[in-house]
Amino acid sequence: MSRVCWGVFRESTHSPGRESDDTEILRLTGKHLEAKGFHVELKTAKEVVEVDEGWPRFVFLMCERLEVLDRLRTLEVSGVPHVNSPRAVHNTYRDRMIAVLDEANVPFIPSRVVATGESPEPGALPVWVKRGDVHNTQEGDVVFASTAGEVETALRRLAGRGITRAVLQPHVTGDLIKFYGVGAGGGPHREPPWFRWFYHKDQKLAGHPMDQRALARLVRRAASALGLEVYGGDAIATATGDLVLLDVNAWPSFALYRDEASAAIASYLALRFAGGRR
Ligand SMILES: Nc1ncnc2c1ncn2[C@@H]1O[C@H](COP(=O)(O)OP(=O)(O)OP(=O)(O)O)[C@@H](O)[C@H]1O
Ligand SMILES: [Mg+2]
Repeated sequence: MSRVCWGVFRESTHSPGRESDDTEILRLTGKHLEAKGFHVELKTAKEVVEVDEGWPRFVFLMCERLEVLDRLRTLEVSGVPHVNSPRAVHNTYRDRMIAVLDEANVPFIPSRVVATGESPEPGALPVWVKRGDVHNTQEGDVVFASTAGEVETALRRLAGRGITRAVLQPHVTGDLIKFYGVGAGGGPHREPPWFRWFYHKDQKLAGHPMDQRALARLVRRAASALGLEVYGGDAIATATGDLVLLDVNAWPSFALYRDEASAAIASYLALRFAGGRR
């Protein structure tokens, strides 16, 4: 039992509309790891908090709640490798992500952190109003606001739910890109070893110029600043050929690429858990 790994599911409240995609990528990755000789035990975040014996040698995780991350952090500090590191997952909380990327000089969508109890001057409209901590979990967490009144309403609603901070971001027009990555950057252009991107389906593509190498480089820089090893996110290719990074998420569902992504993640984990370098 020396190669016991835990795989920890995302909390269902953090997977709105994506519960089964999120479950499937973790399960499939677990299967590939089993085929490589690991003994995999899949657990819910709740189970992880309740366990007090029988610790694993390695952990791979999709959970995001702070209580669970804190618990895993203690295990990690005791010498059990985690992918992603609980600290890296915490770094994807919106307000932390903004601060970490700013500190690392990684270009990100201009973001203003505001108190939901205040009435900030919204600046140029339209803007996006997003809760300041976790990603979208329910309606009202990420809101498009085209008037000052809508900004105000969105902030009041967040405040009413006990969410104290929000982020205001300008609306950027262009082609919406989704990306997925595994690993930190070892290819000829220092792109992540496994990297895929695609245009989001539900949009009318403008066909703006898009520099794929620049996208890979931007994503790699963001992921490494945040400490993420398995990640995804959103970017916009603008009319001027610029790329604007909108969001980075820890271990997404990889839905369109589940089969190849799960195999790539398992290979990455096997190396990592065998003591390979990041
Ligand atoms: N500043 C922006 N300009 C243009 N579109 C935006 C902007 N911010 C968000 N969006 C749109 O809203 C979507 C969700 O935003 P974001 O990724 O920041 O939130 P999220 O909490 O991660 O939600 P999801 O889980 O749906 O990705 C983006 O994929 C994009 O389509
Ligand atoms: Mg997102």
